[in-house]
Amino acid sequence: MSERAGKVVAVANMKGGVGKTTTVVMLADGFAASGRKVLVIDLDAQANSSYCLAGNDLLKSLIREERTISFYLEDVIVRKKRTHLESLVRAQVASTTHGSRLLDISLVASDPSLRFVEREIFADLLNRDFNLKAMEGQLWKKLESELPRLRGTYDLIIFDCAPGISAFTEAAVRAADVVLVPTIPDPMSTLGLSAFLFSLWQGALSKVSGLPRPKRPPHVLATRVQKTAAFTRTLGAMHRDVERPEPPYYLLNTQIPQAATLAGIASDIPGLTFNKKYGAVISAVIGELVAELEGIFDADIS
Ligand SMILES: Nc1ncnc2c1ncn2[C@@H]1O[C@H](COP(=O)(O)OP(=O)(O)OP(=O)(O)O)[C@@H](O)[C@H]1O
Ligand SMILES: [Mg+2]
Repeated sequence: MSERAGKVVAVANMKGGVGKTTTVVMLADGFAASGRKVLVIDLDAQANSSYCLAGNDLLKSLIREERTISFYLEDVIVRKKRTHLESLVRAQVASTTHGSRLLDISLVASDPSLRFVEREIFADLLNRDFNLKAMEGQLWKKLESELPRLRGTYDLIIFDCAPGISAFTEAAVRAADVVLVPTIPDPMSTLGLSAFLFSLWQGALSKVSGLPRPKRPPHVLATRVQKTAAFTRTLGAMHRDVERPEPPYYLLNTQIPQAATLAGIASDIPGLTFNKKYGAVISAVIGELVAELEGIFDADIS
């Protein structure tokens, strides 16, 4: 059997509610439906992708077993333990099937206590006059060091980042091969996109963390797209952005439409097939998204 060389995708945007988690779930289901082995790492205290993928009961038991990303953060930063992400992975969390097989999706879950663990760490750093930059650097290096092993086990590793910018987001956008930025093509969200680019990729703010620049500009995915004049105008402006000589971002051809089917993917219905979960239209869109990302991964190899 050939050695895997899994790809890493971080799904991130400072702006909330733009479809980050929905994109993570679609990618996980879509790649798994095409026969890939997928790992989702939930970096958001809202634990939305954990809930969507594993369902409420399994998520509760993972939290009870202290098998979530907040325990990892505590172990690594506070207790200085050599905990590996691998030890937190729960294999086979999906209940969705495709071609009569369960989708092969593994999960490092999150839980609401992540918010408090982060706060405690900041308070502790302040008390000890410790440098926040140093902590971010430590977390980034640790995450980087975990990836070679995970790449050997999974075809695709997806980070679901929290809105805003956390130490985990800082680390994930640098560790990823591709940073996907779901963006609603409306004026407010595009303003958010500029602020996000300015914070991590360009300009003075991007240098504050002291970490290296992300590997390349991010890939913007237009989400919740509706056929209105305002959306068309904004998408036109985004196309002009990417036609500049040094584009601030890439724009994926695939667009995710506003769709009732996607508003309902949080419901955990055991035994649902991929095709039934997404319906014909969205299944085709997911197929397009998977193919476009595979094209980007292949271009990196050649
Ligand atoms: N294409 C879509 N069509 C319809 N509803 C959508 C679509 N994408 C996302 N939604 C809905 O919009 C809301 C926000 O989506 P989602 O949770 O994916 O965003 P997010 O960026 O992860 O949010 P947060 O910043 O809080 O993590 C959810 O209720 C989701 O079901
Ligand atoms: Mg989310």
